[in-house]
Amino acid sequence: MKGLRRKYYDIFSNFYDKIIALHSKDRSQRLRRYLIEKSGFRPGQYLLDACTGTGSVALEAARFSKGKGVVAGVDFSIGMLSKAVKKASGIGNVFFVLSDVGTLSFKDDTFHVVTCSHAMYELCPQTRQAALSQFRRVLRPGGRFIMMEHTPPSSPVIKFLYQLRILSMGSAGNREFAKDERRELSMFFKDVVLEIVPGGRSKVVYGTKD
Ligand SMILES: C[S@@+](CC[C@H](N)C(=O)[O-])C[C@H]1O[C@@H](n2cnc3c(N)ncnc32)[C@H](O)[C@@H]1O
Repeated sequence: MKGLRRKYYDIFSNFYDKIIALHSKDRSQRLRRYLIEKSGFRPGQYLLDACTGTGSVALEAARFSKGKGVVAGVDFSIGMLSKAVKKASGIGNVFFVLSDVGTLSFKDDTFHVVTCSHAMYELCPQTRQAALSQFRRVLRPGGRFIMMEHTPPSSPVIKFLYQLRILSMGSAGNREFAKDERRELSMFFKDVVLEIVPGGRSKVVYGTKD
C-alpha cells in the first residue's frame, strides 16, 4: 500500500509545482513565508521540513535563514526529492533525506522547529501517529511543531474535492483529524494552538515539546 502511495507521489511530482503555480504562486509563497515566521525559526537554528515534497518550504526556510543554520527536508518520494534537489542548487544550508516520516533516523533533540505543510491530512492515522511521535523525539525541548492545511472551502464543488482528498488518502480517522487537529497534537505537544491564516483559506496548528 505504501509502495503504491509513493508511486503516486513520484508521478505527481512531475506536475506538482505547475499545479501550485496555477493556484497562484505568489499566494503559495506568502503562505510558506507565513509558516516559517509562525514557526519561530531564526537564523542559526535547525529546522526539519517533514513531507517536504519539491522542497518549497525548506528552501524558503533556507532563504529566510540567510545561510545561517541548517534546514533538512524529508520525503519518501524520490520523484519529489529530485525536484527539490534541483531547486536547491546554489543554496548551501539545505539538504534532503529520503525517508518515511514515521521512521526518522535523526538523533533525539536535534531540531528547533519541525514544519509540515499540506501533508498531515494525507498520512493514514497510524503513520500520522508514528510521525508525530518522531517529530516530538527529534525536536529539542521547547521546540515547535507547526503544520499548515487548507480550511474547509465554502464552494460546494471545491468542498467536494477537498473531502475527496481526505477520504482518498486514508480512513475515517482522517476526517476526524481534519475537523480538529488540536486533540491529536495535544497527545504529543503542549500549548497547542489553531490559528486561521489571514485571508481565511488556510490554517496553522502548532505546539511545543515539553
Ligand atoms: C501534498 S504534498 C506537500 C508537499 C510540500 N510539503 C508542500 O507544501 O508543497 C505531500 C507530500 O507528502 C509526502 N509524503 C506522504 N506520505 C509520506 C510519508 N509517509 N513519509 C514521507 N513523506 C510522505 C509525499 O511524497 C508528498 O511529497
